[in-house]
Amino acid sequence: MKRTFALALLACTAGFAADLATTPPMGWNSWNRFHREIDDATVRAIADAIVSTGMKDAGYIYVNIDDTWEGTRDAQGNIRSNEKFPDMKALADYVHSKGLKIGIYSSPGPKTCAGFEGSYRHEEQDARTWAAWGFDYLKYDWCSASRVYQQADMQEMYKKMGDALKATGRPIVFSLCQYGLNYVWKWGPSVDGNLWRTTGDISDNWRSMSEIGFDKQTGLDKFAAPGHWNDPDMLEVGNGMMTSEEYRTHMSLWAMLAAPLLAGNDIRTMSETTKAILMNRDVIAIDQDALGEEGHRVSRAGQTEVWMRHLENGDLAVALFNRGPDAANVTADWSSLGLTGKHEVRDLWAHASSGARADSFSADVPAHGVVMLRIAK
Ligand code: GLA
Repeated sequence: MKRTFALALLACTAGFAADLATTPPMGWNSWNRFHREIDDATVRAIADAIVSTGMKDAGYIYVNIDDTWEGTRDAQGNIRSNEKFPDMKALADYVHSKGLKIGIYSSPGPKTCAGFEGSYRHEEQDARTWAAWGFDYLKYDWCSASRVYQQADMQEMYKKMGDALKATGRPIVFSLCQYGLNYVWKWGPSVDGNLWRTTGDISDNWRSMSEIGFDKQTGLDKFAAPGHWNDPDMLEVGNGMMTSEEYRTHMSLWAMLAAPLLAGNDIRTMSETTKAILMNRDVIAIDQDALGEEGHRVSRAGQTEVWMRHLENGDLAVALFNRGPDAANVTADWSSLGLTGKHEVRDLWAHASSGARADSFSADVPAHGVVMLRIAK
């Protein structure tokens, strides 16, 4: 009897990880815009703004605190937040009261990347603390772990935290952050990772974003599936150092990649243009498509690229990208997309039908821009 109960409990807790992140996580993270300048009041105000701007209704649910919340440990070794975050449980309650979820950050090493307290030798204890505070998401960043472990220990150390999170009995999304080392996409699911960074940090500029999105994800699409996603890093949309055209390309490319959509801007003050990019429901629907197929490049011509992604209802998402400095005409041939006959085409940034087309679709695409399509089956 006892054994049956234990087995049932095990099956139930093991189920948590697989049921989490069945589509790529959506939300917000403090790092890209705020770095160290993040505190309780700002997180609350961002949660308010996620609701009032419509971001929540568009699907952005996780409010994730990145590095610099950590304080010292008490005499029993329990991690405490620092003076910027007076009461983590109260903050989590507040975020939950808005119908949102809340995320936290740590490292397997003694120190985080910003030099704050990490979870080294306190893994189970920290997992229990975060669960008791009510956290729903953990980003676990390698950082100083390189000083105390060999790179070959990495998988084991991530498994240790994956097991610790499961043992809390609370569903907690597990985000692996180790910059794509050791072919993490091959073992991320086995440590219960729901997403794993594939590269170093993104910066708010065209070169960083386009190299990460276009070049560094090649060949990784086969490793993405419901519950387990490649993470090309958080969004820079609205942070000011790219043009609107470039931010539309960023959002479209992340949607084609089935990437987590973690807004990284100041939601309280974002412009109408930024809102229109982050809350384009047609593009979000591609990112969140239940089939969970990550898109891939089907052709390249000069500095233009055509990408495709199959969708659950049999439609195709197709993106015509122009990485060059001048406008260019880009063509998607039906043959390269596996299509024959006539198909209805919808332009997801113009929010308009482009009519029924046979054989191919061509469009003028602005410099560093995109035309993103949904082609009916
Ligand atoms: C690393 C991560 C970033 C961020 C910082 C915080 O650089 O890759 O995403 O979490 O640490 O210190």
